[in-house]
Amino acid sequence: MSDILHDLSGGVLTLTFNRLDKKNSLTSAMYQVLQQALDTAASDDAVRVVVLQGHATVFSAGNDIGDFLQRDPAEPPAGGEASPPLAVFGFLHALARFPKPLLAAVCGPAVGIGTTLLLHCDLVYAGDNAAFSMPFVNLGVCPEAASSLLVPQMMGYHRAAEALLLGEPFMAEAALEVGLVNRVLPPTEVNAYAQQQARKLAAKSQASLIETKRLLKKGQVDAVRERIDEEGALFGRLMAGPAAREAFTAFMEKRKPDFSGL
Ligand code: COA
Repeated sequence: MSDILHDLSGGVLTLTFNRLDKKNSLTSAMYQVLQQALDTAASDDAVRVVVLQGHATVFSAGNDIGDFLQRDPAEPPAGGEASPPLAVFGFLHALARFPKPLLAAVCGPAVGIGTTLLLHCDLVYAGDNAAFSMPFVNLGVCPEAASSLLVPQMMGYHRAAEALLLGEPFMAEAALEVGLVNRVLPPTEVNAYAQQQARKLAAKSQASLIETKRLLKKGQVDAVRERIDEEGALFGRLMAGPAAREAFTAFMEKRKPDFSGL
């Protein structure tokens, strides 16, 4: 079965992460499918709203670390130093420019991009088992998805520094408090609630929704795009460095990374 499930019903396109044996970690192939689904949905009149969801036990463990390790460290970022190096950044741009309402239903761990993609969703519903984390520093890389811009705006500088420098998980109630999620529900109810809200949106005027979302985001479209690219170039460079190699290898070998001397 596919790692990304598509379901279109009543104007609501639901994209489900379906790689449970690897905790819904996202591979390059999955990013490409997601990017294409979003870009197609943007111009498809049959799609009025998109919902992203995972499983009741895990939303996503973030980028597939095996995928990172397969990349040749000597390989320059695609398109030169200033360009984003990976399929993930194509997905992030598609997410950031998506013009229609985008909802997420999040249960269990939401690691790395599992959390940062939510910054680009319009409505986020979380199970009370949701655990959000952005452990980029712990992996020897840097924030992505314009999270270095959007997280401090959302949480304030000090809470953002805690989330992005320490990279420790925070639970659904804390995410609700800082405005990352709209509502916390029992995990068994999250997907159904997100669908219910998506249906409400699908019944509204498309033009009004699209213009309202455009106005809501207007102040920083360029800044977000530029930050995704700036982070992307840095991320690519750090990913090829010794700290990231050590962190990724340690994860695959199920041991703690040793950053001494790095
Ligand atoms: N990339 C690749 N494989 C991953 C993965 C990832 N990001 N996250 C989990 N997996 C794999 C594990 O290697 C393991 O595979 P195996 O069964 O072949 O050994 C399987 O998924 C189950 O993971 P496990 O860690 O045993 O599950 P858990 O329930 O104990 O913990 C998480 C779940 C999500 C908390 C934990 O897997 C985790 O922290 N993952 C890494 C998150 C991360 O650093 N992501 C990158 C962000 S940029």
